[in-house]
Amino acid sequence: MKNLLTIEQLSEKELIHLLDSAELLKRQRGRDGKPLEGQTWAMIFTKASTRTRVSFEVGIRELGGKAIFLTKNDIQLGRGEPIKDTARVLGRMVHGAIIRTFAQQDVVDFAEFSGIPTINALTDDEHPCQILADLLTIREKLGNWEGKKIAWVGDGFSNMTISWMWAAKILGIEFAVACPENYAPTAEFLAKLDAPNVSITHTPAEAVAGAHVINTDVWLSMGEEGQTEKESAFGPYQVNAELLSKAATGHIVLHCLPAYRGKEITEEVLESQADTIFQQAENRLHAQKAVLAALAR
Ligand code: CP
Ligand code: NVA
Repeated sequence: MKNLLTIEQLSEKELIHLLDSAELLKRQRGRDGKPLEGQTWAMIFTKASTRTRVSFEVGIRELGGKAIFLTKNDIQLGRGEPIKDTARVLGRMVHGAIIRTFAQQDVVDFAEFSGIPTINALTDDEHPCQILADLLTIREKLGNWEGKKIAWVGDGFSNMTISWMWAAKILGIEFAVACPENYAPTAEFLAKLDAPNVSITHTPAEAVAGAHVINTDVWLSMGEEGQTEKESAFGPYQVNAELLSKAATGHIVLHCLPAYRGKEITEEVLESQADTIFQQAENRLHAQKAVLAALAR
């Protein structure tokens, strides 16, 4: 592995290795080797973040390295310096980069032009680090995903859903997406995905029926603020107690956070599943330390 730009590009072996390594790092926290000793990693964020920023900064420190956090307004990128020039400069100074931005192409270009390990910390197309934490949480809470059904309720074509659909394909997980018609994966994407174990419905109860994991996310992703027409399509796609009455006994609910109570999830469901959801948030740290350790040169 040279970079982590998408889930799509991971093999099953790489994915499982990252999860095994994350589990070990979690168990051994405080007794880490120092694979990033003497290294400096740049974190370029053009969108807000709580979990991703803090988990990477803490993770880099725990592995012996130092992080430099840069918003686009701190660097010339915000004044129009091309990403390929930023990449060629940073590639000569730091040992790795973590980027949260809009266009996936910017992360791809950064990796290419910098030549240093590059991690996608969320783009409009994928959120690979979050999916690693989700999978780790499922393993911890349910043992594994074999024979389990995972439902996705909400935006069917967001960064989260896209990364999850690839993970489901790679790992052979039954993955049922319930989303409004206008916010479903395109036929072109589904043809490329080519995963008979991924299904799309516009009826949330159908996706949730018998599901062991019910996963959701905001209706409006970062950059979509104020899109009231989009938001209004999601009314029937709330994860609430009534919907969960269709799920399998012992099901868990995942939410990558931040959550908007009363929109995609009710206060009641979020608080009753808080143990799982905040474990999922904590797992960002352990999963990303595994990624950093795998990429360190
Ligand atoms: N889930 C997640 O990526 O959270 P942040 O936006 O707070 O980093
Ligand atoms: N889909 C959400 C994920 C936030 C962690 C967004 O892009 O805003």
